[in-house]
Amino acid sequence: MGVMIPMPGRIMMGPEKDSAMNEFRLTQISDTHLARRLSRLTANFEHLSDYIDTTRPDLVVNTGDMTFDAPTSPDDLEFARSLHEALPVPFRCLPGNHDIGDNPTQAGPPPSHPVNEKDRQTYIATFGDDRWRFEAAGWCFIGLNSLVMNSGLVSEAEQFDWLASELASTRGKPVALFLHKPVFLNTPEDPELEASAIRYVPPSPRRRLLEMLRSVELRLVASGHVHQRRDYTYRGVRHVWAPSAGFIISDKRQERIALKETGLVEYRFTPDSVEIRHVRVPGMVDIDLDELLKTPAHAEEKAGG
Ligand SMILES: [Fe+2]
Ligand SMILES: [Fe+2]
Repeated sequence: MGVMIPMPGRIMMGPEKDSAMNEFRLTQISDTHLARRLSRLTANFEHLSDYIDTTRPDLVVNTGDMTFDAPTSPDDLEFARSLHEALPVPFRCLPGNHDIGDNPTQAGPPPSHPVNEKDRQTYIATFGDDRWRFEAAGWCFIGLNSLVMNSGLVSEAEQFDWLASELASTRGKPVALFLHKPVFLNTPEDPELEASAIRYVPPSPRRRLLEMLRSVELRLVASGHVHQRRDYTYRGVRHVWAPSAGFIISDKRQERIALKETGLVEYRFTPDSVEIRHVRVPGMVDIDLDELLKTPAHAEEKAGG
């Protein structure tokens, strides 16, 4: 059974791992978009679960959009949780816009379902804390809720205060940051454009976040949301966009920035280094969102990433 790890703390490793205490294997999954009524996505998750059963990482992290769309289908939360709890290893989650609603932007129209405290609390009751920090193999791992950024909610300010205190205690360890939305497209100075504003952390909290991170040894930023697999290095920081483990979005609906395929990302952390593998999961299908939306119940839904 998968064990949800809701509270910050060190990941415990069994005595059999004594010889590998300086290694931490993490598998990032993202954008599983589970819903009881969408059995093809459940099938993709089952392939993912089988693969994780054979590889047995120390931890699975889902970087958000566990649900197909919780704001309009609350049952998706319980369904997604039950599948995650059946994973054969411990897991942690972070919220996506389809789990708790989206953040407002300057350039784009207001989100159809803005993030709010009620949905955030429902999320926490279902998937555990929406932000976390733990240490393993000489690294400091930090997970953030990227949807409260630019929301003006109390929890946005609380999260930045919390982050400041967590960063103050990294003691020079390399830091790996996980969050749903990529922090930016190519550079921190990228302008917020109407067509892509929902895709990245909005400029104001982005500046604040990057300024805070300058005080630590940031090595990795791992995100999801875009449903495209990407891996690049900007000023010494590796930026990894995990693909969706559920579906891809056609070029008609979304510009192609990188690789459109389903799958996951494997990390092997050792003190002062990380190996990253981009993995296609045996049996997993590149379902196109358009095919999912042909289901009558989804005829009115739009692609949101
Ligand atoms: Fe998303
Ligand atoms: Fe998504």
